[in-house]
Amino acid sequence: MRMGMGLLLAFFLYGQSPSQPVASRPQPTIDDFKKLISSFPPDDQVYELWRFWLVGQPSDVQRLYEKEETKSKGLDLYRGELRTQGDSAAEIERKIHIIDKDGERWEIERWNRTLTSNSPRINWKPNVFLVEMVKDRKPGRALDVGMGQGRNALWLAQQGWDTTGYDPAERAVALAREDAAKAGVKLNTVIATDSQFDMGLAKWDLILLSYVEIRENANKVIRALAPGGLVVAEYFHSDNGGAPGGFADNELLRLFEGLRVIRYEDTEAVADFGMNQTRIVRLCAEKRP
Ligand SMILES: C[S@@+](CC[C@H](N)C(=O)[O-])C[C@H]1O[C@@H](n2cnc3c(N)ncnc32)[C@H](O)[C@@H]1O
Repeated sequence: MRMGMGLLLAFFLYGQSPSQPVASRPQPTIDDFKKLISSFPPDDQVYELWRFWLVGQPSDVQRLYEKEETKSKGLDLYRGELRTQGDSAAEIERKIHIIDKDGERWEIERWNRTLTSNSPRINWKPNVFLVEMVKDRKPGRALDVGMGQGRNALWLAQQGWDTTGYDPAERAVALAREDAAKAGVKLNTVIATDSQFDMGLAKWDLILLSYVEIRENANKVIRALAPGGLVVAEYFHSDNGGAPGGFADNELLRLFEGLRVIRYEDTEAVADFGMNQTRIVRLCAEKRP
């Protein structure tokens, strides 16, 4: 199971009014959230309720789920929560099994569902920071990690980049392929998770990490960049009022230490996922030629 970054957005995609300032945003109650997901299949609801709980936990608890070594400690904490809610031992184990063993598939399914919707809580246009950082670069080979439905990969291909994107959410990737065919541009796509996709060594002139797992991928990305290649990354700050897995102050800079920083931003802006005004971090950095 990889629950790292894919963990995003229970709140962001299901409940808040877009563009409210972080401080004044009302947090939905558990009862509101249960109503919101009441039409989901029962096992989906188990998974979403765990995520809802997780979003309310401190970041050190959220991080427990990101690594195999600490995951069981995280699951034990949730067992305790379910006990408090009055679940029987058998019911607790049934739910933990869904969250643990089927976690990765649920995550992929929820992205298939979300990214083939027309949700107003997602920016379907290319990421603004990417566009700004890339506009004066000579196109080369680009890799879009966790490409989703291809809003960024397609834009890169249209700018002349020889673009490859990968993502395990096959229905989202199918949309990207269709859009590329309609636009008459070449886009290489691979259905794969981070652990299945081999980025290779020193081969990409641009690697994009847009609202995907960054911590676990950072070292691979550094190795996979060609000399002079760029990494462009954007995600939530940990102090964002909702999404788990966000970055602490300057953490993104430390992850890509050794690259030359072209731009780092820790700012309040409308996030591409959730479309709320919130605290986000952005990095553009170059591997030395
Ligand atoms: C918030 S979306 C971002 C999509 C895209 N990068 C964008 O900015 O539009 C997160 C993406 O991560 C993908 N994802 C989930 N689990 C993954 C995994 N194990 N490896 C790679 N990508 C994964 C999801 O399918 C989804 O497309």
